[in-house]
Amino acid sequence: MIVAANLKTNLTRKQTNIYIKELEKFLSSENITQDIFVFPATSSLDTFDTQTIVGAQNAYPVQNGAFTGEIGLDHLDEFGIKTILIGHSERRHILGESQEAIAEKFNYFKELGFTIVYCVGEPLEKREAGSNVMMEYINAQYEGIDTKYEKLIIAYEPVWAIGTGLTPTNEDILAIHRELKKKSQAPLLYGGSVKVNNAKEIMALQNVDGVLVGSAALNVEDFCQMAVFAEDLEK
Ligand code: 13P
Repeated sequence: MIVAANLKTNLTRKQTNIYIKELEKFLSSENITQDIFVFPATSSLDTFDTQTIVGAQNAYPVQNGAFTGEIGLDHLDEFGIKTILIGHSERRHILGESQEAIAEKFNYFKELGFTIVYCVGEPLEKREAGSNVMMEYINAQYEGIDTKYEKLIIAYEPVWAIGTGLTPTNEDILAIHRELKKKSQAPLLYGGSVKVNNAKEIMALQNVDGVLVGSAALNVEDFCQMAVFAEDLEK
């Protein structure tokens, strides 16, 4: 199982260091053997010699250069970071990243052998328009993406469930994960309002290989508890 924390624009470098220390202490004391990922804010990246895999929330597909406000490969290499989140809905919808730009980024980091957590998911109006429209929308998010890449992890995150406290029903998650598994055999995470009180039942669903957690992961105890659920489910 994979349990991943997307810390978004939260936790300073100092706070992130404390967070990761607490998490590490817990993982080793509880003998957690699952894959635990944390994606800190860019300025909180650091060299972490940890069981937890620390990844970047974003980077520009370039080694370095004139791309104001962005970081490149040099900045990830400095901290030995080999994992990146690509295609998150906040980057698609708030920062306006196109599928073309996302695919370019994907291919750049794929060539470098990065582990890529690639996010897909539909806004509410696409879901409400019925399954054909919804699947057409999600299918377009696979354009230019190598679904057979061996270091690919996919995260299905319905946009309307992110940060809203709303989640699809278990039946809906089962149905969409079944469809998405046909498109790629890569591990498939669910994300969108995962909390301590629903994480275990979501992770127990067929074709759910883990969770990508936003706000609830900001509480390290809650995130640790989700790691325990994942461990329990693998036993
Ligand atoms: P929330 O868990 O806050 O809904 O965010 C999910 C998410 O966007 C993870 O990438």
